[in-house]
Amino acid sequence: MNGKAAIYPGTFDPITNGHISIVNRALTIFDRLIIAILNNPQKEPLFTLEERIDMIKESLNGAPNVEVDTFDGLLVDYAVKKKANVILRGLRALSDFEYEFQMALMNRKLNRDVQSIFLMTDYKWFYISSTIIKEAASLGGDTSGLVPEIVDRRLKEKFNFAKNT
Ligand code: PNS
Repeated sequence: MNGKAAIYPGTFDPITNGHISIVNRALTIFDRLIIAILNNPQKEPLFTLEERIDMIKESLNGAPNVEVDTFDGLLVDYAVKKKANVILRGLRALSDFEYEFQMALMNRKLNRDVQSIFLMTDYKWFYISSTIIKEAASLGGDTSGLVPEIVDRRLKEKFNFAKNT
């Protein structure tokens, strides 16, 4: 795949409509996007890497200019390996800013050739995060409309709230 590429890194445990909004916006700017899932078992994710890859791919309906990949180690090293010099992150509310600012500056210190850029999610998704979605789902809360359908189904299965139809 050729053209200007950006890496969109994250844990994606699981992907939400907020992430999808960022992906769609990024595709109007970049020729291709590499969604890079951090392989970090220490974070004790709810979904396995394979489940997360699967849900992302299904949610994006096989978009041809999106690659779904995993990485470990330093993000800037992964970006160099993938020949991409842009790291894309989504921003919601002010609370994201401090962490994102710190990470962007550290990544810049580690490799000055890799640029961090930020896109804002649609305001409808300002209050959602993978963490809050998991908490609601674990307690039987309805997450439909906040996450892609496949994710909603998998959350209900995981927490045993699937309808017996
Ligand atoms: O979705 P998240 O959990 O906010 O994503 C965080 C992520 C994966 C982007 C970040 O933890 C990361 O880049 N980890 C890889 C190690 C690294 O390069 N860290 C930044 C410099 S210390």
